Amino acid sequence: MSELRSIVRGVGGYLPERVMTNDEMSKLVDTSDEWIQQRTGIKQRHIAAEGELTSDLAVAAAKRALEAAELTIDGIDLVIVATTTPDMTFPATAAVVQQKLGMHHGAAFDLQAVCSGFVYAVATADSQLKNGLGKRALVIGAETSSRILDWTDRTTCVLFGDGAGAMVLELGEDGDRGVLASSLRSDGHHWSKLYTDGGPSSTMSIGHIRMEGKEVFKHAVGNITDVVRDVFDKTGTTVDDLDWFIPHQANKRIIDGAGVKLGIPPEKVVLTVDHHANTSAASVPLALSVAAEDGRIKKGDLVMLEAMGGGFTWGASLIRW
Ligand code: ACO
Repeated sequence: MSELRSIVRGVGGYLPERVMTNDEMSKLVDTSDEWIQQRTGIKQRHIAAEGELTSDLAVAAAKRALEAAELTIDGIDLVIVATTTPDMTFPATAAVVQQKLGMHHGAAFDLQAVCSGFVYAVATADSQLKNGLGKRALVIGAETSSRILDWTDRTTCVLFGDGAGAMVLELGEDGDRGVLASSLRSDGHHWSKLYTDGGPSSTMSIGHIRMEGKEVFKHAVGNITDVVRDVFDKTGTTVDDLDWFIPHQANKRIIDGAGVKLGIPPEKVVLTVDHHANTSAASVPLALSVAAEDGRIKKGDLVMLEAMGGGFTWGASLIRW
């Protein structure tokens, strides 16, 4: 039966031009290409140019998503930017994106759920569209995490990179196409395992990423599998129905662990972490845009997005493409 749903019209990704390899990283801190690849699957990351802001990355990805959707910004009613690295403390980067795209109408706001930001933003846009806020939403994940890294701390600086990804959602009826269900979770008791040691209200500065890597790892696989199973339960689907698994691209070992626990065959898992490292809220739409552009994801496919990040926050969203 047909139902009004938020249907994906187009996706797009953008990575800054500058590539930084693991070998280059090993000139900055005591690390090696072998260590980074073995522990994380990361081969390289992209770094935003001086003066290139999160809003610039967001706009570049948004333009590609709009092009894929065969739409202009005039057709968009809502812009959500999921980011942990806004251009400024305020206004929202989404407002700057709105300006840079020449959009005077509609509504725009940022969403902060760190690496889970894009999944949170998809769920939020979906509910806002269904609540009558408008017909189409531009959902963006964009980060310049390189600006909040401690480049002397080898336990964190090797893990992150810059980038952006975007998706256009449109409310419509087309069989069972669209966002079928989402599941969002958080547990603030774990915030001190992954955080920045600064902020406007505490230090009047932005701080750097601090992380207890082992603790994050320990929680990641269990949390991810919980929300993915919740979404399967909500929709009456199983892992056998799934065509594509689009995990947050933080660490190949976490992705492999979740895949094994859920029983998802590796050929259904989209992996891009080797290419751009952990781009936080941008990682899921970046992976999506790669798999959509190379023709892997096709109309009618069942696609599961998932992410986990600081807070802790975690979530999953099931989409009939
Ligand atoms: N290069 C070389 N050696 C390193 C590096 C590095 N970059 N970083 C740490 N080491 C050393 C450590 O000092 C330690 O040395 P020691 O044994 O002499 O004390 C050794 O490597 C092992 O360190 P561990 O922390 O035990 O390494 P582990 O296997 O846990 O891997 C990692 C570390 C990759 C951070 C892992 O814990 C992890 O992936 N955690 C998840 C974190 C994550 O992905 N965060 C992203 C943000 S959250 C999210 O998106 C889910």
